[in-house]
Amino acid sequence: MKNILIAPSILSADFANLAKDVSMVETAGADWLHIDVMDGHFVPNITIGPVVVKSIKKHSKLFFDVHLMITNPEKYWESFYKAGADLIVFHNEVLCDKKKLIEEIKKAGIKAGVSIKPKTSVDDILELFPLIDVILIMTVEPGFGGQSFMEDMVPKISSLRKIIDDNRYNCLIEIDGGINDKTAKICIYAGADVLVSGSYIFAAQNPQQVLKGLKSI
Ligand code: DX5
Ligand code: ZN
Repeated sequence: MKNILIAPSILSADFANLAKDVSMVETAGADWLHIDVMDGHFVPNITIGPVVVKSIKKHSKLFFDVHLMITNPEKYWESFYKAGADLIVFHNEVLCDKKKLIEEIKKAGIKAGVSIKPKTSVDDILELFPLIDVILIMTVEPGFGGQSFMEDMVPKISSLRKIIDDNRYNCLIEIDGGINDKTAKICIYAGADVLVSGSYIFAAQNPQQVLKGLKSI
């Protein structure tokens, strides 16, 4: 069986006790830490900036997966890299020179990924596949945690799996939005490699048990 990576999203953590929540998921076996950066422009919500990433980096050895839901990733990615990002994921829907941005991120020695919103087709990013390490499929409209998984995104995951396997691209499929024990199974079956999960883990009575449950699917 393929090893599925679990990336708890700190968007649903207790921001007054971030270091504690991060170390809790780290000891429970989290593989990556998913960090949602929102600018109030690309999405209708504002979250955290590089100073917070830098602060939590001091408390964790996890792989920092930084999801930039911002209009100008080309302007800000470097400050997240300096703050400790191991992977920078930006959105395909922004207007910038994407190939150049991917090149710059990889030149810095970290991983680069692209995310697509539910209405964006896989065809729009075909030419980026040979260049990226991660493709992040949104299974909710980006902006908020705690939304329901959009089942109609499942064929998108399966078709991506086929494209990546047929062409032997070295690119992981990450799924973000509405992941719980049931939707995790659907995504794994469709070909996911990495599952982001926020509210399902952090709002649970016993987050560590829930995380271990996801890892054992
Ligand atoms: C939404 C974010 C997600 C969010 C997932 O825009 O990109 O990472 O934190 O939260 P849940 O797992 O609660 O849907
Ligand atoms: Zn995210």
